[in-house]
Amino acid sequence: MKPVEWAEDHVKILDQTLLPTEVKFLEIRTAQQMWDAIKMLCVRGAPAIGVAAGYGVAAAMQEYVDQSMETYHRELEKTIEYLATSRPTAVNLFWALERMKETGRSHRNDANAATQAALEEQAKSIEKYEENACVAIGEHALTLLKDGMTLLTHCNAGGLATVRYGTALAPMLLGKERGVHFKVYADETRPLLQGARLTAWELQQAGVDVTVITDNMAGMLMKQGKIDAVIVGCDRVAANGDAANKIGTYSVAVLAKHHQIPFYVAGPASTIDVNTPTGAHIPIEERGMEEVACGFGKRTAPEGVKVYNPAFDVTPHDLITAFITDKGIVEKPDEAGIAKLLSCRTE
Ligand code: MRU
Repeated sequence: MKPVEWAEDHVKILDQTLLPTEVKFLEIRTAQQMWDAIKMLCVRGAPAIGVAAGYGVAAAMQEYVDQSMETYHRELEKTIEYLATSRPTAVNLFWALERMKETGRSHRNDANAATQAALEEQAKSIEKYEENACVAIGEHALTLLKDGMTLLTHCNAGGLATVRYGTALAPMLLGKERGVHFKVYADETRPLLQGARLTAWELQQAGVDVTVITDNMAGMLMKQGKIDAVIVGCDRVAANGDAANKIGTYSVAVLAKHHQIPFYVAGPASTIDVNTPTGAHIPIEERGMEEVACGFGKRTAPEGVKVYNPAFDVTPHDLITAFITDKGIVEKPDEAGIAKLLSCRTE
């Protein structure tokens, strides 16, 4: 099921806040609607946010095609700037918006209809890039993993967060198609339960053997020798290989190190941000207290209590066994390894 789909005059978004109990699609036609859909996590996951933003720009700009070129381009820049304020951590959002901006600027002297068509093409090519990247990541990941292994993953880095196969879930989904089977433990992922609601849902639908655990069970399973490898996605990888991902990922990485279990981070090259030197420079989104104290409508902490709710954490590169990308695998990622990978980057 596609999380984001271009429907010619609007963007169709699968509302992930309702999963796994309800499958409902939103019709997005304006920048405000797309901003809300990203902010409220109706569409979430780094690559999917980028794809959605690209299509969001294309959809929102339709109403300006019949206006002057000056108005069209002024509104285009405003729309891009506005969507960039929706969420701060996943760099794919900014990567995709930058591509839309460049496309608009390179058609500065063309008729609006031609620019609009180019923006729609650019958004489609962003989607295609992410789809191909997921397949490549899956191929590379399968070279590191063996049939029958038991994997642990955190949050959701599957088709719902990307295009089709996902990143961390790509070896499981691609493997399934090829007769390579894994047993998967999905961390529930407090506070918004992306692991329990989304990872479990999509792996179960694909027929992958998946078991949900609460986040605080991972250490015990590792100690019992039940986990062969951990594989997670990422929202932004700094130039030195430090990787931001869903809150709780860092704890899993520390546990994996202690138990000498390989810890893999999977993500497309569009998630690498060479302008962010280290993980300490990655902006970490802080979300509302109600997600922790009153998640899904059930109060779990007293009214008025202080709550801290960072949505992401950073795993230092020295805890990462390998960074699996569409361009190849970087073992023990560091600044040199990331630079080398990017020097053969074609996108
Ligand atoms: O807050 P979310 O649900 O957007 O967070 C998503 C994650 O942290 C994913 O692990 C990450 O985006 C990788 S998706 C391939």
